[in-house]
Amino acid sequence: MVTALETDPLALYFFMPIHATATAWVLETNQTAYVLGLNAKGMLVHCYWGVKLPRVSDYPVPAESEGWSSFNAGGGLLPEEFPTYAGAKYIEPCLKLTFADGVRDTVLEFDSAKVEGNELQIHLRDTFYALRITLHYHVLENVDLLERFVTVHNQSDTAITVERFFSAQFHPPLHSNYRLHHLAGAWLKETQVQHETLGIGTKVLESRRITTGHQHQPWFALDNLEQPATETTGHVWFAALAWSGNWKLTAEKTIFGGTRVSLGLNDWDFALRLEAKRSFSSPKCIAGFSSAGFGAASRAFHGYVQTILPHPEITRKVLYNSWEATAFHVNEADQVKLAEIAKGIGVELFVLDDGWFHNRHSDNAALGDWWADKSKFPNGLNPLIEKVNALGMDFGLWLEPEMVSVDSELYHAHPDWVIHFPTRARTEMRNQLMLNLAKSEVQDYLIGILDKLLEQHNITFIKWDMNRNVSEPGWLEHHEPKEIWLRYVEGLYRVWGTLRQRHPDVIWQSCSGGGGRADLGILQFADQIWISDMTEPTMRLRIQEGYSQIYPANTMEAWVTDMGAKHLPLEFRFHVSMAGLLGIGTNLHHWSETEIATATRLVQAYKTVRHVIQFGNQYRLRSVFISNFSSLMYVTKDQSEAVIFAFRTHIPDPVKLPAIHLQGLEPTTQYEINGTIRSGSAWQHVGLEVNLTDFSSVMLHIKRVEP
Ligand code: GLA
Repeated sequence: MVTALETDPLALYFFMPIHATATAWVLETNQTAYVLGLNAKGMLVHCYWGVKLPRVSDYPVPAESEGWSSFNAGGGLLPEEFPTYAGAKYIEPCLKLTFADGVRDTVLEFDSAKVEGNELQIHLRDTFYALRITLHYHVLENVDLLERFVTVHNQSDTAITVERFFSAQFHPPLHSNYRLHHLAGAWLKETQVQHETLGIGTKVLESRRITTGHQHQPWFALDNLEQPATETTGHVWFAALAWSGNWKLTAEKTIFGGTRVSLGLNDWDFALRLEAKRSFSSPKCIAGFSSAGFGAASRAFHGYVQTILPHPEITRKVLYNSWEATAFHVNEADQVKLAEIAKGIGVELFVLDDGWFHNRHSDNAALGDWWADKSKFPNGLNPLIEKVNALGMDFGLWLEPEMVSVDSELYHAHPDWVIHFPTRARTEMRNQLMLNLAKSEVQDYLIGILDKLLEQHNITFIKWDMNRNVSEPGWLEHHEPKEIWLRYVEGLYRVWGTLRQRHPDVIWQSCSGGGGRADLGILQFADQIWISDMTEPTMRLRIQEGYSQIYPANTMEAWVTDMGAKHLPLEFRFHVSMAGLLGIGTNLHHWSETEIATATRLVQAYKTVRHVIQFGNQYRLRSVFISNFSSLMYVTKDQSEAVIFAFRTHIPDPVKLPAIHLQGLEPTTQYEINGTIRSGSAWQHVGLEVNLTDFSSVMLHIKRVEP
């Protein structure tokens, strides 16, 4: 096959990782390639996404199509890189807008391309209107990923209305049947792994809740049904959206053998008024291809997350959160008692949850009034913080900044700051309403009051909660009320970003009734996610495994509580939490001396291995979705140490458990486990036998045997 890159005399080989000619672009990471080019009709067509090939000339040229009948014009049959709503395509477009004169077709042609180092920009222009589109590609060769986003430039003298604006469309190879892997959930059961064969038609996953949502993650992975991928083998195409608001994924399969998956802002109830001479950029989409199964795909994302986290290098502290112990009934003396016990166990960060602020005695009142309640803390929070610090622990605090209770000083002063429609009742959920963070005065209020709180107290950790979703999404005074979906999230990012900038050492946790706001957008502000309010360990194992498809262990807060205490030993409950960022959330007054001693031993054990868990590579060895004997493993980047967790829940027969096949070890290096020394290769292929009875677990620390 002759490629454009071979025949084009203008071929300019810029330095890796982007090779460009006048009409084709090859984007290469260490192991993968993504290729696009212009076909003879000038359409920008996706050409290839898969294993990196030896020569640039190996990649296919852009496809052509004459169409198939009067009902199927060529455009709809081709894997167009960024299809707009135009002509006779009838496929899911990435862009739909209305020009000032009412025209709704957007007909783009190639304008120019620019390569700078790892970045490619492709500029497209409308054939009639002063509208330009820039497709941005950023090659992250070391983590084998591609970052994509799109900018729309309205260069005309009149406003346009953008009604759909996706960040990317992806085209796995034509004429294959794909399985779609995604994560579904609800409060208390987030990130449950789903697999389904894509049939003809369009599958939609989305959030309409103004936040990422518990229900789905803005992520997909595809494998080929005829050559299914496993954790360690096979081809996987995958992507996720870095956005904390309404999002949409469409996975469309046509009778002509095309599969296209789009990801971006949700177009449901959406409109963006783009004024004359203004531009707007979409959220980023991060995409990759793995030829070594789902495990490698996840590790690519885990590597990427380290590049966006505010504090990727900081060892996360063992925390205690007093919510389950004291709920809303907090005061200095009781918190100090809990802090003393926590300190004895080895806790390093003490977090005061809800109930501490002005008039907050139940969930009926007070949200918005972020100053200490005088009846509970007569001298403010500082005496408690000083005592916690004197015990040698850091102090953290719970906040729910986006919310307001009707019974609060803030609501009485600014009832109009709430998201609402004037002629409709304001639906309360957990007795609370949502502040309209799209409004700059609301953002400024929150920045002001929270900045003061952080300035006046030695607070090094904030749990940022959000306990409801939107309703009556009104913002009628705005020139385009449907922009609320977008501007709310931008407002949230502004508030959080400003506070983060002013208080760079604070570690933030993103919580929304557990994992309602876990995404690659929020991880630019929050280092940690409270991934679920569910702390029963057998369910938690599933949630954690789902979460690990995208996000790494050093973002995954996991507390030991008394959920599951009736059927699971404390050690099992600890092991589940030790597989992430260990925390304790139980009422410590209820633990016996024996339990305190076990907890102390396990916190100490965690501290000796947490560098492996928090900074190592993760391998899912046995899925909890497949078997009641599950296992996972972390290996340091230099492959000198590893930690294995194995969990057995209920298996009816007293069977001998199968060997666990380890991964990630250096094949010829010797490793010792429980007195047995074998090569990494032997631990992988012969495996490790563990002897577990029902509802028991084990954690093993493996070290390289020095020659
Ligand atoms: C939410 C959180 C809990 C706790 C309460 C406090 O439910 O998920 O962990 O912080 O709010 O009201």
